[in-house]
Amino acid sequence: MTQPRSPGSVWRMARRIYLPKIIRRRSKLHGWGVFAAEDINKNKYIIDYDGELIRQKESEKREARYLRKGCIWCFRINRAWSRDANVGGNVARFINHSCTPNAYSQIVDKTIWIRAGRNIKKGEELTYDYNTEGDKTIACRCRPGCKNRL
Ligand SMILES: C[S@@+](CC[C@H](N)C(=O)[O-])C[C@H]1O[C@@H](n2cnc3c(N)ncnc32)[C@H](O)[C@@H]1O
Ligand SMILES: [Zn+2]
Repeated sequence: MTQPRSPGSVWRMARRIYLPKIIRRRSKLHGWGVFAAEDINKNKYIIDYDGELIRQKESEKREARYLRKGCIWCFRINRAWSRDANVGGNVARFINHSCTPNAYSQIVDKTIWIRAGRNIKKGEELTYDYNTEGDKTIACRCRPGCKNRL
């Protein structure tokens, strides 16, 4: 079978899932963001949110430490487990939050997939809803006048 290839694109051979090319760039939302480097169809798997697999107790400790610096890196998988993208994370760690996102997360076992919530055009910034819990200290800048907090 001939497989289309472009720099940065990835074929997950075990699952035969084509992962689209994405790139990290400075974002208008915050710091670094991740952008589509090719058109991405709705529901496509984009990337898995990688990071060290840690127990909830450890995650809470690290989250508090990261939050003091205004950062969110721990992604909660379930009541028992989280992934800390600050340790062993990939480019997914730079995907910003939006209250009207174009992507969504889906947990399969202990893998956190980021998938396209709609058709995404090349050049668009990728966003998903962080669904944060807790103190919510960070003002959301997803759009002018957004009153939500992360
Ligand atoms: C997983 S990181 C995303 C990458 C981040 N932009 C960077 O440069 O490191 C999450 C952090 O990005 C910031 N962030 C993400 N989405 C945001 C938003 N909609 N409004 C304000 N800050 C946001 C917050 O500081 C949050 O702690
Ligand atoms: Zn918002």
